[in-house]
Amino acid sequence: MLSTRPLSPRASRFEDSAKLSDAVASDVNGIGFIGRSFVRGTKTLAISESGIKPMLPTTFAVATGDYPLSRRLYLYIPAEPQNNWTRKFVEFALPKLEVFSWWTSGGEAAGLNALFNTYKNQYPSVGIINATVAGGSGSAARPVLQTRLAVNNPPDTWQTHPGWELLGQYVGPGYCEPITDLYQSEGWEKAFPKALVNLVSQDGQAYAVLAGVHHGNVLWYNKKLLDKHGIKIGNNITFDEFFAICDKLKSAGISAIGVGDSGIWASAQLFENTLLGVIGPQGWVDLFNGKMKWDDPKVKKAMEYFAKMQDYLNRDHAALSWDQAVKELMDGKVAFTSMGDWADGEFIKANLKENEDFGWVNHPGTNGSFIIVADGFTLAKGAPHKESAIAWLKSIGSKEAQEAFNPLKGSIPARTDVDKSKFDGYHRWSMEEFAKDKLVASCVHGGAAPETFQKALNDAVSSFVSDKNVENFATALVQEAKKVTPNTSGRLQFSSQTIELVSPDIPPDAPPGYADDAHGAAKLNIIFHFRSGSTQLDNKALADMRRLVELLQNSNYHGQSLLLFGFSDNYGGNRLNSIISRERAQAVAGQLQRRGIVPSLVTGYGKALPIAPNDTGEGREQNRRVEVWLR
Ligand code: GAL
Repeated sequence: MLSTRPLSPRASRFEDSAKLSDAVASDVNGIGFIGRSFVRGTKTLAISESGIKPMLPTTFAVATGDYPLSRRLYLYIPAEPQNNWTRKFVEFALPKLEVFSWWTSGGEAAGLNALFNTYKNQYPSVGIINATVAGGSGSAARPVLQTRLAVNNPPDTWQTHPGWELLGQYVGPGYCEPITDLYQSEGWEKAFPKALVNLVSQDGQAYAVLAGVHHGNVLWYNKKLLDKHGIKIGNNITFDEFFAICDKLKSAGISAIGVGDSGIWASAQLFENTLLGVIGPQGWVDLFNGKMKWDDPKVKKAMEYFAKMQDYLNRDHAALSWDQAVKELMDGKVAFTSMGDWADGEFIKANLKENEDFGWVNHPGTNGSFIIVADGFTLAKGAPHKESAIAWLKSIGSKEAQEAFNPLKGSIPARTDVDKSKFDGYHRWSMEEFAKDKLVASCVHGGAAPETFQKALNDAVSSFVSDKNVENFATALVQEAKKVTPNTSGRLQFSSQTIELVSPDIPPDAPPGYADDAHGAAKLNIIFHFRSGSTQLDNKALADMRRLVELLQNSNYHGQSLLLFGFSDNYGGNRLNSIISRERAQAVAGQLQRRGIVPSLVTGYGKALPIAPNDTGEGREQNRRVEVWLR
């Protein structure tokens, strides 16, 4: 900025932008200031403003206003233009953004609006096209979206569930653009829990940003109605207690459980919650990775409970949507509804008071477990308005948007650095549960299994609510489960608390060959450690070896290549460290081979890529290791 200083007398002024540009181009010492469309034969320079990284005037940086020398040109029209074409022209001139979702219920629309408002504050010039297709859980929206994607007419961005839905339905067929750069530039790698980042990532690339995380297994109740009947709900409820209350209400002429299953998923949700209540989080992992079968006695027990629940349902359930069932709860027509905490969004929208008008507890048997139903947004490959879409994703990942959206939607923010005082009692409870519970992915909401299985579950639930035949229900699901080919990489994490797959970035100082070796592979959180100078596995390694063998023998992982990478600490010369690190990997390989498992690659990288500082004994111990990777 010149401020009050005069322009140097040696500077030239031009009235014609093209001439200025050409004069700079023909003078080796020339430098000029010009509109972006007149760059012509000159070279643009990156400039910076106090403390901000220098940036080039890319269309994107100029459009967002981040480029320090950008300025806007405004079109002004009368508030009530006489000529309709004037308004149409301005609408046409605005940059656009098409956002596709199924958020149409009271709480959902309020949450979506909060996201729009935050975006409009941050990027005022963009006109939002709100493309919604009503129907809880996306039951009607997803087929519409699939058709649009198949005929190459994508919205710029769409709502999706992480896990199988995102990765299987959209990333796999190539409908999404990776947004890994945003995780770096926006600092999301630190702001979001790693477990959540893993859920939207494949082969080291991230494909969605999460707006919030819903809690699927919540049992909501009308507090005043229960009080009237002398019923108190504590911090936990068992199936026996729950059924005893249902009986009591039934004899008073009240339908205990409200369901709105005009979209069958709502009934499937009641079953899913009941299933978790019986088999627990480990059972859940086993069921979805094929270790437990769908005709296991425990699964059948859950089916029986679910059948019993049908005796207490609201009679009009098949005619209602999920939010109409929540409304029946608010109106005192039913006492309970077992529903994800988007129901809380409805209570908030209706101005109900928590612990006065309504209350909640984990669905029977599910204390300590949390069904994740997270909502993310993607970037379409070939997005018609790519810049607006990138800005939308940036906005959703911002603290501001997460603090505006989640208090209205019932979900908790995916970011961990939000101001908790902006959240009510329910949200704070859910945040605590999320932090301490075992997390499992929802099948009904597309996280835990591929779409074909999700649909098969809905169909099986549909038949079951009419015939209540446990054998048929179980057999149908056993058959369907056989058709599922599990894909582990990056997704093993959410179906297992114990073994995590991570796809780390390849650091710039990685030794030669490492990038190729690790390409497309993911690291297990099983690491073997060694004493100084030793290449022998010690007793401590036994338990890890057992876990690893068990994992690799699981049919889900057959066909995956196993890679073993050895490392040393920084004591000793390079040559020796390189040999020792390879021998360590060979020691692990030897143990595995004795158990019938043959790794595809066994190698050592010496003292490269330390995972801890080498200046303490503890750090060096960490670095003397063998990492296990799967591809
Ligand atoms: C879920 C979605 C929630 C909520 C719910 C009911 O699948 O993740 O945000 O909208 O469906 O529609």
